[in-house]
Amino acid sequence: MFGPIKIAPSLLSADFLNLERDVAAISAAGPDYLHIDVMDGHFVPNLTIGPVFVKALKRRFDIPLDVHLMIENTAEQLDWYIDAGADLVTVHVESGVVAPACKQGNSRCIQAAEDPEAVVEQLRRIRAAGRMAGLSLNPGTPVCAIEPFLTELDLVLVMSVHPGFGGQSFIADSLAKLDQITIVAQTLGVDPVLEIDGGINQQTAVEAALHGADMLVAGNAIFGAADPLQALHDIRAAAVLSQSRSSR
Ligand code: DX5
Ligand code: ZN
Repeated sequence: MFGPIKIAPSLLSADFLNLERDVAAISAAGPDYLHIDVMDGHFVPNLTIGPVFVKALKRRFDIPLDVHLMIENTAEQLDWYIDAGADLVTVHVESGVVAPACKQGNSRCIQAAEDPEAVVEQLRRIRAAGRMAGLSLNPGTPVCAIEPFLTELDLVLVMSVHPGFGGQSFIADSLAKLDQITIVAQTLGVDPVLEIDGGINQQTAVEAALHGADMLVAGNAIFGAADPLQALHDIRAAAVLSQSRSSR
């Protein structure tokens, strides 16, 4: 838990021919972070942007950058994003693991990290650079897969859609994962930020906040709205209200 709920608009749903315009416009609504989806066409089927873009954003805007790495070679490429100025870097626990496609959906899922030392090394590298270290899990990956790393990170990113594309429907099972992570973290005496990503809108934001989410990523619900500023305000207001009710 880190104060009032944070909102991170996902640039994936912004107009790629007018990114500067869209980020400048949304900055008026006071986003807490900008969520940047890095996809390599291997870990997920889609392909997006790289460190050059992150660096350019950092230079131009004064909004903390939340970089979500959906890539295969995390160990090799992680430093690119640290050097580019990411404030928060999230890696996937399934990255670099050769695993069968998840039966429940189309993203990779695992029961346990194949190379736990590599995951720890990446999280430590991010922290050593003075940035927040996040670890993400896909919809088919159980919470036990990230448990061994909860003392090594600042944030857990729960994917509430199969990663790769914006505009998908929220997977409701993700709410139970937020609860589970909270319980496991408490038993370990840690308090990671809980971020949720995928299918967040005004309604699902309420649910996520009730289940302890601290940070909401929203792409389509913000940049796909007729009035993105109003959409961000509405999502934040709904989530903050829900958060205050759940903590009563
Ligand atoms: C999906 C990305 C998300 C995506 C969310 O792989 O990680 O950040 O942009 O988009 P919406 O909010 O449209 O589901
Ligand atoms: Zn994302």
